[in-house]
Amino acid sequence: MAILKIAQLGEPVLREPARALDETEIGSEPIQRLIADMVETMRDANGAGLAAPQVYRSLQLCVIEVGENPRYPAFPAIELRVLINPRLTPLVSSHDVLLDAESISMYEGCLSVSGLRGRVTRPRKVRLRALDDAGRAIDEVWEGVPAAIVQHEVDHLHATLLVDRADPGSLCFLREYDRHVPSKERIVDGLTLPDGSAGPSRIVPSEGHV
Ligand code: NI
Repeated sequence: MAILKIAQLGEPVLREPARALDETEIGSEPIQRLIADMVETMRDANGAGLAAPQVYRSLQLCVIEVGENPRYPAFPAIELRVLINPRLTPLVSSHDVLLDAESISMYEGCLSVSGLRGRVTRPRKVRLRALDDAGRAIDEVWEGVPAAIVQHEVDHLHATLLVDRADPGSLCFLREYDRHVPSKERIVDGLTLPDGSAGPSRIVPSEGHV
């Protein structure tokens, strides 16, 4: 395995829509090696996710994993996921106006926008359809912080970056973020449950849920 170079903002590959993988390619040695290298690269850089265009490969492939992460101490754990040709459907009542209770606003970072954080508001619940690293179908509902993370990674496959979606006035460098953004503003889940707690952050099978 190898740690790959991560493309930084301004590299043309980050602005190219990635091509879908053919199902017959998934098991190939080059793709399996790329997946293993991306996982190693993500872990080495303390990323919550990494998309293939970030390592100069314009393919619809991304990996996500959250464990004990010093870059994102408040994130819930997510087991390693490999997502190929992912498709997201926001589970919201209207695509024109995002209701507060259906949104999550979170300061996001990106390994390709090194040192910057910015607040992005996204649907807090999405349906994910994809293939895994063995070509098996995934059909799940991602809610809360995991929903924001998977939307960020899938954005990379469509040439969209954190800086395109962030509230411009919220952009800040990591040192200033640590100093000036209060903890309660770092992740704001628009859904409040009757007991006052934030909405669930979880990944569940789609079946019976959508
Ligand atoms: Ni990113």
